[in-house]
Amino acid sequence: MSKVVVFSHPLIDHKMAKIRDKATDTKQFRETVSEIGMLVTYEITRDFETIPKIVETPITTTTAHVLKKPVVIVPILRAGLGMVEGIHNIIPSARIGHVGVYRDEETLEPHEYFAKFPADIADSAVLIVDPMLATGGSASAAITMVKRRGATDIRFVGLVGCPEGVKRLQNEHPDVDIYLAAMDERLNEKGYIVPGLGDCGDRLFGTK
Ligand code: PRP
Ligand code: URA
Repeated sequence: MSKVVVFSHPLIDHKMAKIRDKATDTKQFRETVSEIGMLVTYEITRDFETIPKIVETPITTTTAHVLKKPVVIVPILRAGLGMVEGIHNIIPSARIGHVGVYRDEETLEPHEYFAKFPADIADSAVLIVDPMLATGGSASAAITMVKRRGATDIRFVGLVGCPEGVKRLQNEHPDVDIYLAAMDERLNEKGYIVPGLGDCGDRLFGTK
């Protein structure tokens, strides 16, 4: 069974309050989602393996440590894009794949429409990024898509989750650990997370 980590940090809580607030405008919303993306990455990467590397400092030669595997960030379009800049800021060597999945507004089932990945994704640590884990259908479909390309080291990174989404992801991908900034109560009858933050893609991009 996969691990579920819900971050507990005053700065993350403070910024989550901002993006939950319906009075927060598009610019502030986008900036804050990106900032939270950066903060959670510090914790998600805590168990990444490193390997020794000989480095010449201005003073002497020493053994330093660098990440063992390349990192690939895979945002789920559209809302996942909002977290990419923050994550990329602290892992600038990471490559970025993209997965297009939207959920049908009636059935809530995911539909794939785009996929583009770096060639060596199979040998990389893969971060599947989407702020919202609602039914879990989109995240599960995205994970299946990267597994088809051979990826085995996969983590899901979200901002707001709920028990329904976590349960589905754990059932369908028990090997993928789940990292969230908040675990909310439930889904409403339209498949929105309660209390949640509304439609994340629309709030990021000013649509609707
Ligand atoms: C939203 C969100 C997730 C998905 C979560 O995307 O960004 O990808 O819903 O819901 P699920 O867990 O029930 O699958 P949406 O389909 O609205 O597309 P968008 O990001 O393009 O707005
Ligand atoms: N997608 C969103 O953007 N928000 C939700 O609450 C659920 C799915």
